[in-house]
Amino acid sequence: MKRREFLKGLGATFIMLKSSNYLRETESQNGDMIKRRLGRTNLMVSVIGYGGGGIVDWRQAQIIREAIKLGVNFIDTAHKYGDGMSERVIGEAIKGLRDKVYIATKTVRREAKGAEMDIKESLARLQVEKIDILQMHGVSSMWDLEFILNEKYGALKKVKEYRALGKIDFIGITGAHSPIDGYWRIDSEKEIRVMAEAIKTGEFDTIMVSYHIEFQNDSIKALLELARQYDVGVICKKPLGAGKLIKKYGVEKLLKFVLSNPNIHTAIPGMRTIEEVREDVSIGLNKKGSSER
Ligand SMILES: NC(=O)c1ccc[n+]([C@@H]2O[C@H](COP(=O)([O-])OP(=O)(O)OC[C@H]3O[C@@H](n4cnc5c(N)ncnc54)[C@H](OP(=O)(O)O)[C@@H]3O)[C@@H](O)[C@H]2O)c1
Repeated sequence: MKRREFLKGLGATFIMLKSSNYLRETESQNGDMIKRRLGRTNLMVSVIGYGGGGIVDWRQAQIIREAIKLGVNFIDTAHKYGDGMSERVIGEAIKGLRDKVYIATKTVRREAKGAEMDIKESLARLQVEKIDILQMHGVSSMWDLEFILNEKYGALKKVKEYRALGKIDFIGITGAHSPIDGYWRIDSEKEIRVMAEAIKTGEFDTIMVSYHIEFQNDSIKALLELARQYDVGVICKKPLGAGKLIKKYGVEKLLKFVLSNPNIHTAIPGMRTIEEVREDVSIGLNKKGSSER
């Protein structure tokens, strides 16, 4: 069977959601962090999450704890970030706070054996009993996706086994392109195509895609609509254009733009100082006494 037919076949067996439940947001109090339902995970996640890509130093544990104190309840990391430091520091930071945060980590391994090694290490580094969301990291091509889905040796098979054991709650997938890196016009279309096929398989509860003020087109809009139809949670990476758009627009405008799209459930800026955390988090706080921003 051809790859595309195989993927489409899987998608056809999945029942699409037609419900306003998708766009659920908390009725938060004035000053509280606004939370949105992360698709069918039903996790109510803070609209500003923590991007853990730049965590490389033990001193950052304090900064993560500050973010949690201010209302961030979603932290994204990956097995490979900082050669494991990101997960280790997050593990320290959430000690005694585990019930206050959802942890999403990732594996870049495409084969079952490698994925299992990563999952075991991630659990140990994070010092947790369970990973809330395990994401397939940086899936950059249909070939990549097909490998992951392979029923005999693909990574997904092992991730599902760990889910059955109660070590993972949900499974996600992240795209691979980096807008603003000189190649984004080509790569973004590819990322969107791969994420769309991933959604249609019905295997993934969340996707992570790049989205920011200078990256909006019909393809990304269609992808977000597809995610809505399948009740898939959407995490926005690079909301500040990898920091490169801050000078031009300012953090407030950039994050408000991302959050003005209700089909995006959490934006996860990378933050390395307390000042950055305070500024970024403040954009997700309810300032009007209702869920409205
Ligand atoms: N394929 C994938 O799975 C994938 C790929 C890329 C990213 N991600 C995830 O997405 C997260 C975010 O992506 P990103 O960090 O590349 O891009 P980003 O969030 O768009 O930008 C982060 C940059 O913005 C700066 N910044 C943040 N808040 C600021 C503030 N208030 N004032 C001034 N500068 C500020 C940071 O500076 P500092 O350097 O000083 O902190 C950092 O350089 C990553 O951490 C990671 O979790 C996932």
